[in-house]
Amino acid sequence: MKTIAILSNKGGSSKTTLCINLAIAGTLKGKKTAIIDLDPQASSSDWADNRESESPVVISSHPARLDKVLKAAEDAGADYVFIDSAPHSESSSLAAARIADFIIIPCRPAILDIRAIKNTIDLVVIADKKAAVVLSCVQARGGLADEAEQAIISYDIDLSPVRITQRAAFVHSLTASQGVQEYDPKGKASEEITALFKWLCKQVT
Ligand SMILES: Nc1ncnc2c1ncn2[C@@H]1O[C@H](COP(=O)(O)OP(=O)(O)OP(=O)(O)O)[C@@H](O)[C@H]1O
Ligand SMILES: [Mg+2]
Repeated sequence: MKTIAILSNKGGSSKTTLCINLAIAGTLKGKKTAIIDLDPQASSSDWADNRESESPVVISSHPARLDKVLKAAEDAGADYVFIDSAPHSESSSLAAARIADFIIIPCRPAILDIRAIKNTIDLVVIADKKAAVVLSCVQARGGLADEAEQAIISYDIDLSPVRITQRAAFVHSLTASQGVQEYDPKGKASEEITALFKWLCKQVT
């Protein structure tokens, strides 16, 4: 079983969006996937409540119970577990970082977001784990993402080669309690998530 934590102390950086969509990407590849929702806002859990499909399983958990919940997921035969985390919660993020095999740090290509992820990168260093930043909500046009990449590289952290663009499908699919690959299988958002999942699988093998 591989555990991937999606961490960022910055609110609204696409943690839940990436967590849900990566878990669904795994499910669609025939893998047993689960989401552990550490966020008291319970966004992933709410999404699952309104969903027809039983997979991915979403488990709401307190950070102190993370090891036990992960053990239960492993015993149940999970291939991939994605941890959705709360913003502004260092202790909760550190607990997830310590237990993860790989950490994804989503970041919008904007200066305040780039500055804010520095704290999350510090947690990655403390936990001594493999991690990468994934640019999200990237504007389809303009060079903001290229500039953001340069700034992020200066933090001495890996950067995913796959960027996630700002697309309405990411918003509409969540409203429909789906992932973009279910909502619009042939769309560009779906293509991006397929590519991101493929890249992620290589990072955790
Ligand atoms: N690639 C995208 N394109 C368009 N909208 C997006 C994209 N990614 C995220 N969003 C939207 O941005 C908002 C914040 O995203 P999300 O809830 O995933 O962030 P978060 O980091 O989990 O937030 P929080 O810190 O509050 O938990 C949501 O309304 C979501 O639909
Ligand atoms: Mg969230």
